Amino acid sequence: MTATEDLTTPPPSLIATVARAGQQRVFRFWDRLDAAARAQLIRQLEAVDWDGLPALQALVAEHRRGIAAAVIGDLSAATTPPCVRLGADDSRADAERLGAGALGAGRIGAVLVAGGQGSRLGCSGPKGLYQVGPVSNASLFELLLGRLVAVRRRYGRDVPLAIMTSAATDAGTREFLARHGHCGLDPRCVLVFQQAELPALEAASGDLLLDGPGRLATAPDGHGGMLVALRKCGGLEWFASQGVEHVATFQVDNPLAMPLHAEFLGHHLRSAADFTTQVIRKREPGERVGVVIRHGDSHRVVEYSDLPAALAAECGPDGGLRFHAGSIAVHAFSVAFLERAVAERTALPLHLAFKAVPFLDAAGDRVVPSQPNAIKFERFIFDIMPLARRICVVEVEAAAGFAPLKNPPGATADAPEHVQAALVARARAMLARAGIEVAAGVAVELDAATVIDERDLAAVLPPGTRIDEPRLVRGGAIR
Ligand code: UTP
Repeated sequence: MTATEDLTTPPPSLIATVARAGQQRVFRFWDRLDAAARAQLIRQLEAVDWDGLPALQALVAEHRRGIAAAVIGDLSAATTPPCVRLGADDSRADAERLGAGALGAGRIGAVLVAGGQGSRLGCSGPKGLYQVGPVSNASLFELLLGRLVAVRRRYGRDVPLAIMTSAATDAGTREFLARHGHCGLDPRCVLVFQQAELPALEAASGDLLLDGPGRLATAPDGHGGMLVALRKCGGLEWFASQGVEHVATFQVDNPLAMPLHAEFLGHHLRSAADFTTQVIRKREPGERVGVVIRHGDSHRVVEYSDLPAALAAECGPDGGLRFHAGSIAVHAFSVAFLERAVAERTALPLHLAFKAVPFLDAAGDRVVPSQPNAIKFERFIFDIMPLARRICVVEVEAAAGFAPLKNPPGATADAPEHVQAALVARARAMLARAGIEVAAGVAVELDAATVIDERDLAAVLPPGTRIDEPRLVRGGAIR
């Protein structure tokens, strides 16, 4: 079917499928649609997994009855796995050498997940375009992709990067990358691929919702959609064909993320792990990060919303939190493990999110609810953790590696001003270590494309230099 082909009625087989599922109201406004809109609706309906819909509706029904979808099981015997502390372990130098070697040999690739709808932040386009550079005003994409430019500069090899988008972010991301010269990366080393969508279902009825007269309300299938989407687009082969053996994954909303930190990658390689993950040490039970736990020989991440408050607050023998390994969604995987995970488990479990989803009412008026009315479904990439034979957990300082942008300006946490403050604090700390003084209250920012660490500063800013004005600090060549 082409977009311009006229359709007086939907294809009979589709009408029958939709009727069997009791969802005929999706055709309620059919008569109002032009040919292109009809074709679009049909494409969307044909993409729905109708056989899987009853299972989604059953989850919605359980949610209605107050049954928690995530069964976390008995955690009485669970522990926090041992964590290697970045920069503080005896194996640090060895790990750094190994990681640097792998980067220099082109064995490392990266996946950036950027398909989220950014609904809390309230952005209309991809979150990656949001400008947070405290001095440069650079966007998240520029800050994060700049890091890969810096890695190429230091280690002499491109890091092939796959960027996952969704229906909501794909066009805007591609357009941005083209307009900004792929933020300094070689376009041949950037693969943009799109994740799948899942329908949002009305919480009260479990029915499909229309977002427009000819459009179903859908949402991207979570960052775990990466696994199937990468396979479908040939991404795993794309990596392998370039000699990539391990990929580091990170999220578009954390401009401090250090997926390509040589020591982090080195710990992954040294431990021959299938799956290595970065954590921060949770100080407060209420911190909104999932925790990595070990249960027998198996590891997994328990979402913060699924961890009972009493367990979250429990202390261990050292007086710190018993479950303190807070996941920050920066991981390294061997490509072989991802291939195995795809083969063993195509469908990761679904997590439910109760959200306010705009919809058309019976009269065709668009309602924008102020309260949650619908269930969205997401898959999380960390749910492949139990499949891993070897896990390595690397603890990083939050100040060095975690400042997520989730909320709009003025929010109490994870707002643009907090992210900017974290970028400035990180820059000030690195400059201080390099012997450079920054006047109190002066904003400084490290140029993502030229500064990885203090070594990049030595060539341009000798110790004893003082910075009195806001400045974007660029690094020089390492001698
Ligand atoms: P979040 O769920 O925290 O953020 O995703 P979001 O989806 O962008 O924003 P909200 O929840 O609507 O406010 C964390 C990371 O996972 C990516 C996001 O782009 C972000 O980098 N993500 C999330 C995807 O790539 N796909 C998804 O389906 C969901």
